[in-house]
Amino acid sequence: MKGYEAETFGELNAETYDALTEERMAAETRDSVQTLFELAGGGKVLELAIGTGRVAIPLAKRGLAVQGIEASEEMVAKLREKPGGSDIPVTIGDMAEVRLTETFDLVYLVFNTIFNLTTQDAQIRCFQNAARHLGANGVFVIETVVPDFSEYVDGQRIKGSWATLDAARFEIAIHDRVAQTVAFQRIIIREDGIQMTPHFMRYAWPSELDLMARLASLERRDRWAWWDRSPFTADSKSHVTVYGPSPHP
Ligand SMILES: C[S@@+](CC[C@H](N)C(=O)[O-])C[C@H]1O[C@@H](n2cnc3c(N)ncnc32)[C@H](O)[C@@H]1O
Repeated sequence: MKGYEAETFGELNAETYDALTEERMAAETRDSVQTLFELAGGGKVLELAIGTGRVAIPLAKRGLAVQGIEASEEMVAKLREKPGGSDIPVTIGDMAEVRLTETFDLVYLVFNTIFNLTTQDAQIRCFQNAARHLGANGVFVIETVVPDFSEYVDGQRIKGSWATLDAARFEIAIHDRVAQTVAFQRIIIREDGIQMTPHFMRYAWPSELDLMARLASLERRDRWAWWDRSPFTADSKSHVTVYGPSPHP
């Protein structure tokens, strides 16, 4: 999607992100914070694409030393407004490129955000960057959906989410199965006009993420279907995967 850059998500979503995620994701946030806290083992933590601190702030409140990398100044401004948010060091930049001088015990990238990097090459560089920031016993944790196109017909899907007497919201998604990209347009039509919120992502199957990890000299240590560490199966809709430095790089 021409013009959709690393900063675009924040420009379009920073104002509404917290209200939406607090409403829809309270249980998910709680479960992810608990598992990430356990995986950190009391050590230093780096969140790639820290956003408004949905996960990072609760982790910092539990006493962990948390830092972040984030492309969007708008998202970080929201993090800074929250209690404890101004104490978390954040480096503005691309999570596939930014290099910090320190290493960490836990690096994590949640909520499908590896897919915000819209080329395979950028996703590989992100794995390599995560690996670069891991201490010898550190782990890199990634959480994404397992892509599912069962509702798509001829490479596209149109899905309504609500309709009232004078307005409606729906989403158009266009799938390119060679580039593994989906271009979304979320549209609200009201009497006084149309509001559009685009989104663009490149998806990867769990197996492709494992290969990216290998290219970054990481190996898979665990894969669960969800933050509760439930078993990952062929029917799982999502995965939480833990990678660590490979002993045989
Ligand atoms: C779905 S939000 C997730 C935010 C946060 N991790 C959470 O779970 O609430 C995606 C975030 O990725 C950020 N982002 C997108 N591309 C990025 C990039 N290349 N480097 C760093 N951050 C990026 C966006 O600005 C946004 O804050």
